[in-house]
Amino acid sequence: MKAQVVGWGRYVPQRVLTNDDLSRVVDTTDEWISTRTGIRERRLVEEGETTSRMAVHAARQALEVAGLSPAQLDLIIVATVTPDYPFPATACLVQDALGASHAAAFDLSAGCTGFVYGLSVAAHLLSGGVHQTALVIGAETLSRITDWADRNTCVLFGDGAGAVALQANESEGGVLATVLGADGSGGDLLRVLAGGSQMPASHRTVTEGLHFIQMRGREIFRFAVRIIPTATREVLEDAGLSLADLDLLVPHQANQRIIEAATRALDLSSEEVYSNLERYGNTSAASIPIALSEAVEEGLIQPGSLVACVGFGAGLTWGAAAIRWTHPQPAPAPRWRRFLRRLRYGLAVLRSWLRRSVRWLAALWTRDVLGDGRGRDA
Ligand code: ACO
Repeated sequence: MKAQVVGWGRYVPQRVLTNDDLSRVVDTTDEWISTRTGIRERRLVEEGETTSRMAVHAARQALEVAGLSPAQLDLIIVATVTPDYPFPATACLVQDALGASHAAAFDLSAGCTGFVYGLSVAAHLLSGGVHQTALVIGAETLSRITDWADRNTCVLFGDGAGAVALQANESEGGVLATVLGADGSGGDLLRVLAGGSQMPASHRTVTEGLHFIQMRGREIFRFAVRIIPTATREVLEDAGLSLADLDLLVPHQANQRIIEAATRALDLSSEEVYSNLERYGNTSAASIPIALSEAVEEGLIQPGSLVACVGFGAGLTWGAAAIRWTHPQPAPAPRWRRFLRRLRYGLAVLRSWLRRSVRWLAALWTRDVLGDGRGRDA
């Protein structure tokens, strides 16, 4: 049994922040940002836009491409370091919004490698026969944990979401191999210090800005340049293939200089390595699925293509996946199908509301009939 990628989708917020916009906020220039990072602009959420909402948009697109209904999903994984809440999981909010009533749902935290970790977990559950159909989403609102006064970090990050739908079947291809790794001794190179059990949120943590991203950029850079070629070679070897078989490498989009160094180390041409960093910046766990979805639309990935995704990030973590693509980009759905889909998502909202109402009425009934316990304690 193999996990096939049968659907893909992405969502980026409307609001664009250019390097020139940033140069009016912090001491930086378009020239510095574009030459040191390759980034020209990034997308940022508006007030009220959240990780789960972006994830739902990307997920709906992936389901549409796959021709799947949410009720067919067995599993939803959301890879994120910016969940809507510490708990419940963002994946559960997505499950509810989609109306994926048969799906298990959980979040996965592995920094920018989160999507590759999620893909590996889902692919193994599918190939092992545990589940039939899964959604793996990478979604981030990094703008909410960015210190907009820190020029070392605020120029790098952006918001967005990407998703793939996976289905188990006996055909050739699909997710051929994955490799994952971690080195916790590098945890202090990229982190958010406050808000967990080590340093709960307090007045002090907020005034000192400890809820923002802290990063030692040069060390992350060196780590990335070393790990991308190693992980890529390893995953291709595990799949019984070599770099000569590779059609497209889709690396985590963090810095164009990192991508170029990896391209040189692997002796690939720039056409064989995907980059859209210029338009979105680093969207952490969302960067690879956004890139995959754009690469398919641009015709760079087609049925038969061998694609390798490679990620690195906070943890430190790294991971790579080798995928033999099997599904083409479908023609846009006819109007009536799009209408039915909208209706289905409307029904999902109604279903969620009904379940909440039933729970509320049950709580009321329990209090009225059984008492709320206060009388007994008195
Ligand atoms: N504008 C102008 N000057 C700046 C800016 C800025 N935005 N940011 C830093 N500088 C200055 C620094 O203060 C420093 O000045 P100094 O020499 O007077 O001290 C100078 O530029 C050079 O700084 P470096 O840190 O050496 O710059 P470098 O060329 O290494 O680029 C960068 C920095 C872009 C952060 C790079 O190291 C990088 O991309 N690292 C990897 C980061 C990364 O990938 N992070 C995400 C990991 S994935 C995840 O899990 C989210």
